[in-house]
Amino acid sequence: MLSKVIEKALNDQIAVEAQSSQVYLAMASWAEVLGFEGIAQFMYSHSDEERIHMLKLIKYVNERGGHALVPTLQAPPAEFGSFKQMFEDLYKHEVKVSAHINDLVHICLQEKDYATHNFSQWFVAEQIEEEALARNILDKINLIGEDKGGLYLFDNDIKQLTDLHAGEE
Ligand code: FEO
Repeated sequence: MLSKVIEKALNDQIAVEAQSSQVYLAMASWAEVLGFEGIAQFMYSHSDEERIHMLKLIKYVNERGGHALVPTLQAPPAEFGSFKQMFEDLYKHEVKVSAHINDLVHICLQEKDYATHNFSQWFVAEQIEEEALARNILDKINLIGEDKGGLYLFDNDIKQLTDLHAGEE
């Protein structure tokens, strides 16, 4: 059985993952409208992953006798400036998600909920991957630059990254 404190912390994390999915969906749509299929595909799949993270939390809360709450979502921006800016936003967003996960782990220890602590370790590992992936993409975009030809190459390149990442799930 979950304590009320843990149930709330998990429900907060559900909202964070749901909002992440929402933001990445807006990024996918923006890239698609601009004609960058590889980037759009990457962001669509990233958005799906966040929804899977949310579902993992929802199922855990309910399985442990809590009540998982489906959160209200904020509308994300419609446009993201440049792709460099967009991937910087993505990286910063993941760093914030990691901070939330760390808070969750901290609360688990305070509450002596070792089962939820154990469950949350999957998210700790996932955040290491997600931050590394975002940094990897930022490095690439910095190398290629923002000119049209460079972005075209980058769009092709990121398709491979998407397939690689999907293969690891
Ligand atoms: Fe589920 Fe990217 O954090």
